[in-house]
Amino acid sequence: MTSPLTEHILYSENQLHIESCSIESIATKTNTPFYCYSKAQILTNIQRCKTAFNPHGIDIHYAMKANSNISILKLIAEQGLGVDLVSSGELLRAQAAGIPEKSMIFSGVGKTSTELTLAIAAGVGQFNVESVEELELLATLATPHTGAICAALRVNPDVAVDTHKNITTGRKGNKFGIPIEQALSLYQRYADHPWIKLSGLAMHIGSQIQSAAPYCQAIDKLMALVEKLEEEDFSIDSLDLGGGFGVDYGEGASLDLASVAQEIAHSTAGFKGRIIIEPGRSLLASAGVLVSRITYIKEAQPNPFLILDAAMNDLMRPALYQASHPIVPTNTDNDSCMRHYDVVGPICESTDTFARNYPLSESLKAGGLVAFLCTGAYGSVMSSTYNSRSILPELLVSGTETQIIRKEITQVQLIKYEQ
Ligand SMILES: Cc1ncc(COP(=O)(O)O)c(C=O)c1O
Repeated sequence: MTSPLTEHILYSENQLHIESCSIESIATKTNTPFYCYSKAQILTNIQRCKTAFNPHGIDIHYAMKANSNISILKLIAEQGLGVDLVSSGELLRAQAAGIPEKSMIFSGVGKTSTELTLAIAAGVGQFNVESVEELELLATLATPHTGAICAALRVNPDVAVDTHKNITTGRKGNKFGIPIEQALSLYQRYADHPWIKLSGLAMHIGSQIQSAAPYCQAIDKLMALVEKLEEEDFSIDSLDLGGGFGVDYGEGASLDLASVAQEIAHSTAGFKGRIIIEPGRSLLASAGVLVSRITYIKEAQPNPFLILDAAMNDLMRPALYQASHPIVPTNTDNDSCMRHYDVVGPICESTDTFARNYPLSESLKAGGLVAFLCTGAYGSVMSSTYNSRSILPELLVSGTETQIIRKEITQVQLIKYEQ
C-alpha cells in the first residue's frame, strides 16, 4: 500500500503535518483519538472538481452525508456549491451552515412525511423521488399553500459497477430508485398535478467508482429515457448524475475528474437542461486524518497486535466494507526497520480490526501516535457510541491555526439523556 499524502497533509522534517501544524503538536493539546481536517486540502479538492466540471456547465452539489460538520458545510457554502441531503437532520445542518434552500436537493429512499413536510416548508429546491409510493405521498403534501414542488425521478439504470458490493446502488435488486421502465407511466400519471412539477431525472450508481465507463452506460440509458419522455411532450430540465467518484485509499488509483467530466459532457451532449453531480468522497476524503495513540503492542503470532485507542466505532469503513486506509506514523525519525502488525482497536469484536500484516516501523512504542489517512469522508459521520465510547472531537487546520470544530461528545453527556 502506498501513502496517498496530499499537497497539505505531508511529512516535513520527519513529522506528519496538516498544513503548518504537526500532528504531534496538535496531540499535545487534544486527547486522542481525534479527526483532523485540512482547510486548504478541502478547498483544493473543491477547486479541482470545479475546474473539471464547470467548463462543461455542470453544477456541483456536495453529498453532505460524506462529512456534515457545520464548519465544513460553511466552506462548501462559501465556495458556492449546493448540497445533496438525505434526512431532515442534514437539512437542519445545511440551514445552520447558511446554504440556501433553493440549492438543496433532497435524496433518499425513505423520506418520511414529517421530513417531506419540513423540507417543503423550508423551500428545498429539488426532491429526488425514489418510489411510486413516495411520489404519491409528495402529491398529497403539495397544495396551493406550498406552491409548485420541483421533483426529479431517481431511476435505477441497472448497470454493473466495479466496486464493493455494499456500495453499488444502481443495480436491479438495490433498494434505490425506480425501475427505468416505470418512469414514463409516472410522468403520465402526474402530468396534470397542479403542484408537482416533475421535470427531472436522477441517478446515483454507487461509490468509489474508478472508471467513467459505468457512468456513460447509465447516462446512455437516461438519455434514451429523456428522448422517450420528450417525444411524449414532457420537458426534462435537469439530469442529476449522482456522485461516486473514486479516490486513492493507498492502492494508487483514483478517478480522474477531468476525464470523467469530459466523458459525462460527451454522453450528455445535446441535452439542453441543467446537469448536476453530487460528489461527496472526492471532495473530503483526502483532506482528513484520524489520529490515534498506541495503547499496547501485544506480542503474538504470527504478528504482534498494535492495539490503538481508536476503534471500529470511530472509523467504520474497514468493518463495514473491508476498506483499508493507509496507517502511518506521525514521526518517522526511527523508521528504518519494518515489522508487520495486526492493527486493531479496543472494542470487543473481532471485526474491530483495521489491518492485518501491516508494515510499520519496528520502533513503534505504546504511547506513540499513528494516523489513518484519507478519512475525511465517511469517517466521523459514521461513528457510533458502541462499547459506551464517546464521539470523537473534530479539528480543522488552516495554516498555523487549529480550531476545534466539534467538541468530543462524552459518555457523561450521553448518560444524562438516560433515565
Ligand atoms: C444519492 C447520492 N448522491 C451522492 C452520493 C455521494 O457519493 P460519493 O461520496 O461516493 O461521491 C451518495 C452516496 O452514497 C448518494 O447516495
